[in-house]
Amino acid sequence: KVVPVLLSGGVGSRLWPLSRELYPKQFMALTGEGTLLQETYRRVAALEGLSNPVAVCHEDHRFLVAEQLHQAGAAESSVLLEPKGRNTAPAVAVAALEAMVREEDPLILVMPADHLMEQPEQFVKSIRMGRERAAAGGLVTFGVPPTVPETGYGYIRARSLDGVGGPAEVAQFVEKPDQATAVEFLNSGDYLWNSGIFLFRASRYLEELGIHAPEVLEASRRAHSEAVRDLDFLRLDADAFGESPSNSVDYAVMEHTDSAYVVPMEAGWSDVGSWSALYDCGPRDEDGNLLLGDVLSHDSRNNYIRSENRLVATVGLEDHLVVETSDAVLVAPRGRAQEIKGLVEELRESG
Ligand code: GDD
Ligand code: MG
Repeated sequence: KVVPVLLSGGVGSRLWPLSRELYPKQFMALTGEGTLLQETYRRVAALEGLSNPVAVCHEDHRFLVAEQLHQAGAAESSVLLEPKGRNTAPAVAVAALEAMVREEDPLILVMPADHLMEQPEQFVKSIRMGRERAAAGGLVTFGVPPTVPETGYGYIRARSLDGVGGPAEVAQFVEKPDQATAVEFLNSGDYLWNSGIFLFRASRYLEELGIHAPEVLEASRRAHSEAVRDLDFLRLDADAFGESPSNSVDYAVMEHTDSAYVVPMEAGWSDVGSWSALYDCGPRDEDGNLLLGDVLSHDSRNNYIRSENRLVATVGLEDHLVVETSDAVLVAPRGRAQEIKGLVEELRESG
């Protein structure tokens, strides 16, 4: 059996002002018909031996998650509630423990609930390719050919990728390199981006976590065993969970394990991390503009302009982002979309 694990705990601060703490991007329909969470769940529906999903999210979002999964056709799902996010390493640990309650040592397919995939059938194909290796104990990642020296991603060097492109042993995994290293990796042609999607046996992840980040495992075990069940919700024990160091799967396990494998994936993947990423993968008009809502653009090129409430008009604007919502408007050069995260920090601090 394969248990899909939907990670839905992020805040999506780089998509401010649309994405907010109370309503982050994974719960919005940004491009497709359903919300990002629903699309994530639906795209694996064709997979053989699929079990009901396990979602992990902040407790404030429990009804959003339950409702959206139900609408997306997930008959029964388990929703694990975090009192406070401690990053992905403990989130995946509690999901693995929960999956093991349900099935006998299942594979878990960990999916960030905020990614886009232009060709879901290619994605499903890649998962099928990784299945055997995962069943045999490998920690399988899915690697995307890089296009720019992005420093917010993990980089993977495979031992050998010839042959059918099936799972290759990972020789090196580097999470979030600095700019110079990212440029070097890109130019070498030897690296793939880590998509952040993983396939492994629940027990194998826990084993590796125990070796490389025992405190995360310990806290997650307690948080899960002392959790309170309430319908489909599982309220993780707050004290125990809070004791876990905040760490990601990538830093805690993937950079250190000897059992990592990578399956190359060309499925039009994009982690809708920023407005510029949304611009890059969306449908643009002949002037290179991506316009959403009530927008009038005159002699303007290569902009992402989104209006939620009011008419937004531009004259002679180029390479900009304009996002209008009921209580905030963002205007920024497209190339500086990454800096919005810092802006949101500032806003938060100033109350
Ligand atoms: N439940 C829960 N709890 N989910 C979380 C938490 C948490 O505390 N923190 C993050 N997530 C979710 C996010 O919502 C997202 O869907 C996913 O886990 C990954 O977290 P990010 O914070 O977006 O990670 P990242 O983008 O910095 O890096 C990861 O993804 C890249 C590709 O998008 C890494 O896996 C990189 O190696 C990878 O290249
Ligand atoms: Mg991300």
